[in-house]
Amino acid sequence: MENRGNFTSRLGLILATAGSAVGLGNIWRFPVETGQNGGAAFILVYLLCVLLLGIPMMTAEFVIGRHTNTDIATAYQRLAPHQPWYITGYAGMLCVTMILSYYSVVAGWILKYTLDALSGTMAFITDSSAYFATFKQSPYLPVVFALLFILLTHMVIRRGVQNGIERFSKLLMPVLLLLMIALAAGSMTLPGAKDGVSFLFNPDFSKISSAVVLNALGQAFFSLSIAIGCLSTYASYFKPDVNLLKTSVSVVSLDTCVAILGGFIIFPAVFSDNNVSPDAGPGLVFETLPSIFRSLFGEGAFAGYVFSLMFFTLLSLAALTSTISMHEEVTTFFVDRFDMRRGKAASIMTFTSMVLASFCAMSFGPLKDVHIIGGFTVFETFDFLTAKLIMPLSGIVLSVFVGWRLKRQLVLDELTNNGSIRIPRIVTAAFLFILRWLAPIAIAAIFVNELLY
Ligand code: PHE
Repeated sequence: MENRGNFTSRLGLILATAGSAVGLGNIWRFPVETGQNGGAAFILVYLLCVLLLGIPMMTAEFVIGRHTNTDIATAYQRLAPHQPWYITGYAGMLCVTMILSYYSVVAGWILKYTLDALSGTMAFITDSSAYFATFKQSPYLPVVFALLFILLTHMVIRRGVQNGIERFSKLLMPVLLLLMIALAAGSMTLPGAKDGVSFLFNPDFSKISSAVVLNALGQAFFSLSIAIGCLSTYASYFKPDVNLLKTSVSVVSLDTCVAILGGFIIFPAVFSDNNVSPDAGPGLVFETLPSIFRSLFGEGAFAGYVFSLMFFTLLSLAALTSTISMHEEVTTFFVDRFDMRRGKAASIMTFTSMVLASFCAMSFGPLKDVHIIGGFTVFETFDFLTAKLIMPLSGIVLSVFVGWRLKRQLVLDELTNNGSIRIPRIVTAAFLFILRWLAPIAIAAIFVNELLY
């Protein structure tokens, strides 16, 4: 078998894992969901999900990955031979393939905006809603950009874990963070920004319904890349001395900060622009960002040019560190399971997601009237099946598996690195309690409640 590789530094592995978590989920999906689910009340539920369920479940996935050092399906099989748990591993791979496909469409839109920023056209877009609508409906351009994005992902994956994934993330994540802080500060100076901030901070509790809670849960899982095998795949590259619990606290904190920053960039701008409403849906970011740059710097200004170019470039790269983690999960599976060459394994995943992505990309244009489930287009179906169905269900299985099925000692050994790290008893007790009781019951309740009523 090929050498599987390892992340070589602590910072590198945190940033690579945070790279998987931080992406369009934070800067595109989070504002869209927040806007459609009533603002601050949604954010509160989201934070609860992230804190109570996110950290323990991410750690649980790390336990599986680092203990077995292999792909997610084999990992479940090795830990529970001849039992059907491994089906979750396959469901996870199906899920990331679907996410990669529709995510690349949005990433492709970002890529297009990056080129617009580069060529200077962005500074002159006066009606960003109309501009976005024309672009996303065009029959082939969004497909081309989505495919291009998958090809970029393919190129990094081919280079392997250290030279590709780790090196890349270490460079990128800090710059992204700084730029986002600057942009949020800028966005808050726009006229009318106050209303945006109060939309983010003043919860209206009457808005919390079971649908809002399921959406918040789905968003938390999506944003943290939880329960479908990406994290366990990355953890299979962790060295034995990595502190799993600390790593998840760092990754979850980073991810949450970036999501909130995303809100601070988008909503002040939304409320200062009369043409855009907070519940505009997937186009929200694409309609507001160009107008933020225009209002902040003026039409055609050089500072606006530099800023927008940097921002969209970084956003593309943040999306790339996430698509890499999705791609890697399935590529690793082919390499580990079938002893396939990395290049060949990667090509299979690339080809499959390219085909699916083409349908997703067209579901805003030529295929916009093709509905799969309910009134959902292909794109919306993929989003629904992954974030609202497979991720929560896999989340239940993951918690039950690590909480009940794995030997307690094995879990404790992974948490403490065989006794070399001291973890207060109360922390391990809380960790096990959440995995055994709170997570499965809460997720199941939210899920059933939303499905039945
Ligand atoms: N967490 C990523 C983001 O927020 C998306 C993602 C989902 C990545 C699932 C991997 C697996 O953009």
